[in-house]
Amino acid sequence: MSYQAWANYFEQHANHFDHIDFEKPDDLSLDELRLIKTSVRQFQRGEHSEGKHLMQYAKEQTAYSGDDSYERAIQWFIKEEQRHAIGLGKFMHTHGIRKITSDPVDNIFRAMRRYLGFEQSITVLLTAEIISLIYYRALHKATASPLLQAICNQILLDEELHINFQCETLKEITADRPAAIGFLSRNWQRFLLAGTVVVVYTQHGKALKVGGFGFSRFALASFKTLERSIDMVYNNAPIQRRQEQWVV
Ligand SMILES: [Fe+2]
Ligand SMILES: [Fe+2]
Repeated sequence: MSYQAWANYFEQHANHFDHIDFEKPDDLSLDELRLIKTSVRQFQRGEHSEGKHLMQYAKEQTAYSGDDSYERAIQWFIKEEQRHAIGLGKFMHTHGIRKITSDPVDNIFRAMRRYLGFEQSITVLLTAEIISLIYYRALHKATASPLLQAICNQILLDEELHINFQCETLKEITADRPAAIGFLSRNWQRFLLAGTVVVVYTQHGKALKVGGFGFSRFALASFKTLERSIDMVYNNAPIQRRQEQWVV
């Protein structure tokens, strides 16, 4: 897919939450609320970003290549992530869960994206997309809230595409790289994911476990998604969307 096609996809997809009725009364038991509230508010915070540094990198790409299609795709992509934060925020408001404006793990991710350059920024972003793809599957199953399940379903469909989008970008960045450097990059991605899996499970383990992901399954599912991503970036696996029914 060209960046032009990605920009078109994100633009045409801007109404992706329109099918969800946020005003409809929703069910969430007190036990479910206690289980997920701390976890959901941290992920809601993570979804919300102005994307300033990513936009800066994208503008540099435009200046370098004279083609602004990546910049436009990134603009729409950031808006899509912000709509994830808005959707989760509406759910939280319905159930009296207050928002947070800062989270230590999220702050580390943001700092890495800010200071480590374009390629590492996308690598860190890909790690977050992979974690999201597993987390929202668990969150979907952790409660019987129809509203939260509808939001998780939509986010899962979106994150699947985000993984492909970040892989496409990394593939382009690393295209002419010597094999030895590619080997180091792949292992850095694995190391980064391993650390993230441990930290995320430490913080969100209770919700993940009730959602069907004990530590081993969470780690395995995350690494399976990473290996699929590595195949797309380094091994010429086609960058394509999987069947939607796989996701939920
Ligand atoms: Fe997201
Ligand atoms: Fe995402």
